[in-house]
Amino acid sequence: MIDTRTTEMQELISPKLPHIFYGGDYNPEQWPKATWQEDVRLMQEAGVNVVSLGIFAWAWLEPRPGEYHFEWLDEIMDLLHAHGIMVDLATATASPPPWLAKLHPESLPVTADGVRLSPGSRQQYCPSNHAYREAAQALVKQLAERYRDHPALILWHIGNEYGCHIPDCYCDQSAAAFREWLQQRYGTIEALNDAWGTAFWSQRYGTWDEINPPRAAPTFINPTQQLDWRRFSSDALLECYEQERSILKEITPDVPVTTNFMGFFKPLDYWKWARREDVVSNDSYPDPSDPHSHVAQAMSYDLMRSLGGGKPWLLMEQVTSQVQWRPHNPLKRPGQMRLLSYQALARGANGIMFFQWRASQAGAEKFHGGMVPHVGTANSRVWDEVRKLGAELPRLDPLLAARVPADIAILLDWESWWAVEQDAKPSQDVRVLSQILSYYAPLFMRNITVDFVPPNADLHGYKVVLAPNLYMVRDDIAQTLEQFVSNGGTLVMSFFSGIVDERDHILLGGYPAPFRRVLGLRVEEFDPYVPGQTNHIRMSDGSTYTCDLWSDVIDLEGAEALAYWTDDFYAGRPAITRHAFGQGISYYLGTRPEQVCMEQILEQVCNEADVRPVLAVPPGVEVVRRENADRSFLFVLNHTTSAVEIGLNQTAHNLLTGEEHSERVTLQSRAVAVLESGR
Ligand code: GLA
Repeated sequence: MIDTRTTEMQELISPKLPHIFYGGDYNPEQWPKATWQEDVRLMQEAGVNVVSLGIFAWAWLEPRPGEYHFEWLDEIMDLLHAHGIMVDLATATASPPPWLAKLHPESLPVTADGVRLSPGSRQQYCPSNHAYREAAQALVKQLAERYRDHPALILWHIGNEYGCHIPDCYCDQSAAAFREWLQQRYGTIEALNDAWGTAFWSQRYGTWDEINPPRAAPTFINPTQQLDWRRFSSDALLECYEQERSILKEITPDVPVTTNFMGFFKPLDYWKWARREDVVSNDSYPDPSDPHSHVAQAMSYDLMRSLGGGKPWLLMEQVTSQVQWRPHNPLKRPGQMRLLSYQALARGANGIMFFQWRASQAGAEKFHGGMVPHVGTANSRVWDEVRKLGAELPRLDPLLAARVPADIAILLDWESWWAVEQDAKPSQDVRVLSQILSYYAPLFMRNITVDFVPPNADLHGYKVVLAPNLYMVRDDIAQTLEQFVSNGGTLVMSFFSGIVDERDHILLGGYPAPFRRVLGLRVEEFDPYVPGQTNHIRMSDGSTYTCDLWSDVIDLEGAEALAYWTDDFYAGRPAITRHAFGQGISYYLGTRPEQVCMEQILEQVCNEADVRPVLAVPPGVEVVRRENADRSFLFVLNHTTSAVEIGLNQTAHNLLTGEEHSERVTLQSRAVAVLESGR
């Protein structure tokens, strides 16, 4: 029998706070002590129950090398605790103090062009630099030992947004670390030469020390060298994280750890990173002036849930009003912050936090919004919205252990993403994220929830797997997908998939070699378009659609054609195919069709696979279901600027208003309902 209590405890970020987390980055070092008192009072007024503390406080904690000052942090930790506020305590290593650069100029990062960057901004460290790593670890040890038993400590926040500004460093120390990493991977120089294909352009290496990072060079750099550099650079930062994590795990084994992710952040293979976190957390700053930004935001939230294997995650940062780092920074409109907060909860988050608590008075982020704005709290729209959200979140406690079910998975392989977007390709316009979005958006619009999965995933339980541009084939993915389809699953794969192995060597014998059997076809050639060029496809019902970006020239080997090219020398040959394989079906899209065509194809796929929308609603309304063993929680989010009526198929209790709805619910513009019912 399942012990529901234990299961529910496991779904909590920490048993110390069995509620939705609500708070933000708190930087008391920027303010006089008198303000601290006001801060904690206002935090209580806003319903804040947790803050992230000390993220950029290294220079305050260790003003001179080895000289630590924790008195102020002791005081603020105690003050927060006295007011019932928990602390996500940062290891403070995201930005070293200026003394580190003075003492160790070699700790500063170097660009591919050989420019050494200066202090005066943030994140100015080379990930492979020993002095940085040693100083960081020493600080982490001090912090862990000092606060190990502090009652306010609920979570460790390691670093901050790893790689955000400096995803890699090209200095000599990084070069040495790269060589070590390569020796680990390949063992012998011959194996490296083979993997890198150095017979080409006289690139053969005789000894390890001839190898360098892919620094500025006359023309295209060896693609496998570039790819290994991406792998190494993600791992180098992960090693920094891991060194801090192991200190924390030794001293405070029961305190969970996280580091804040940045959605679909290309430089770091988050599948690898997430395995080292107890809680996945994410920072999200959709452009409020883009009417579609909530779609990409939903997609990144689905990724966060998937990175943690479906466990609740934490929205670590968003902004109440406006950021300061775009060229133009419009405000979130009234109700937009609340709506976007609920979108995170709908997609599996158990916490809503902001950068930052109090808007700064000085520094590069002084025009970035805060929970407490520059105008203060009296007659402030922002503060009112912050306070109201904080007041209603406790009503959502019943859903803390509820998960988000999904029948469809999108395959995302970071290494393939790196490889396909390198230079010297058939087209520089094949971009993984926009390809994924072209599959995700039609499903989002129909309120069909999607998970993401890595290439070594267990696909059991999914009805449909989408593989847009799976250029690189590794981790037995070809066998996994073949098995999945043969057991009754549906696969949808797009052009420029199955092209190379993990060394970025072409898989010969007709594209996409390892998937030909399951897809029932061969791609003889591909024809990428120049900007503005289009072609057309005709579906079997006679309807015609425009395509851009790419044409595959396809021979059928068992598949049937669903659409044919109308133009060019390959007119009449298949462009989109369907293949019955074993008990399942595979689809192949040899191009990028316009959105209505994508909608139609994915609708057919969903109908055949019996994947149903969560609820049929008017356009612009997002619906997501969370559920636990016996309850279902339907999030209904109105992203439009007018009121909508939603028909319900069962009686439900609105957790936010306390109302009972039997047949329908009316939602004003940007309003939200969370409807609880039995399963
Ligand atoms: C990131 C950082 C924060 C802050 C915000 C501004 O998320 O983690 O320190 O700079 O961006 O949007």
